Amino acid sequence: MQYKKYNNVKTIFNKISYKYDFLNNLLSLGLHKLWKRKLVNLLQPIDGENWADLCCGTGDLSFLIYKKILPTGSVTGIDNAREILELAKQKSKIIGHKLIKWEMKDILEIDHNKQKFDGICISYGLRNLVNVEKGMETMFNLLNEKGRAGCLDFNHSRENSISDLFQKIYLRLIVVPISRIFQLSNEYSYIEDSIKNYPDGDKLISIAKKVGFRKVSYLTLFFRQMGILILEK
Ligand SMILES: C[S@@+](CC[C@H](N)C(=O)[O-])C[C@H]1O[C@@H](n2cnc3c(N)ncnc32)[C@H](O)[C@@H]1O
Repeated sequence: MQYKKYNNVKTIFNKISYKYDFLNNLLSLGLHKLWKRKLVNLLQPIDGENWADLCCGTGDLSFLIYKKILPTGSVTGIDNAREILELAKQKSKIIGHKLIKWEMKDILEIDHNKQKFDGICISYGLRNLVNVEKGMETMFNLLNEKGRAGCLDFNHSRENSISDLFQKIYLRLIVVPISRIFQLSNEYSYIEDSIKNYPDGDKLISIAKKVGFRKVSYLTLFFRQMGILILEK
């Protein structure tokens, strides 16, 4: 499957952008919001800190972090798909969050000599990068000394385990058929392959340690369907 080719990923997210929030809420029954809140609570952003939401999409994590770093901190939401980022900007205007900066960039091409953050979060983004290790290196380089980061994504379960079977059933019998109603089944059917190519928790931990993170932990959520990786520099 060629989904990881740079332009394909960008094309997919530009194409699904107009239904992204709606389908996310429907397909997870709103649970993605709880998982994102869990990630932010584990990371504990505080007033005055400077945070980045990488692969920010429509900006859910940016908005959650923003509430924690007020009144003197900052949040930068970064994504390389113009149309999905446009939705984040529009939501930001409606909510009145004027202080979040939005940048259209490939996160693997950010110049870490020019930008540094106290904290980084990324949800459902690392799995979509052409190279997960490079993504983690980018996070490491973008963090200030003692900075911390957290990644939320699908958990890659052991092949044929109950959670793996549950995930396949959910993706094949719920996600793809529902997205078909909106003519987006091709775009949503890539998820199963992307999880297969995404490292499991142990592997994510070993990549993070190799990249240089001092403290690394991984926890699973919702019957091992989702995973959160917490990294400290
Ligand atoms: C599944 S969405 C997640 C969006 C949001 N973080 C969320 O949890 O709802 C993945 C996002 O990653 C972005 N993305 C993928 N590869 C990227 C890259 N190399 N640089 C920047 N953004 C990227 C896509 O455009 C898309 O908006």
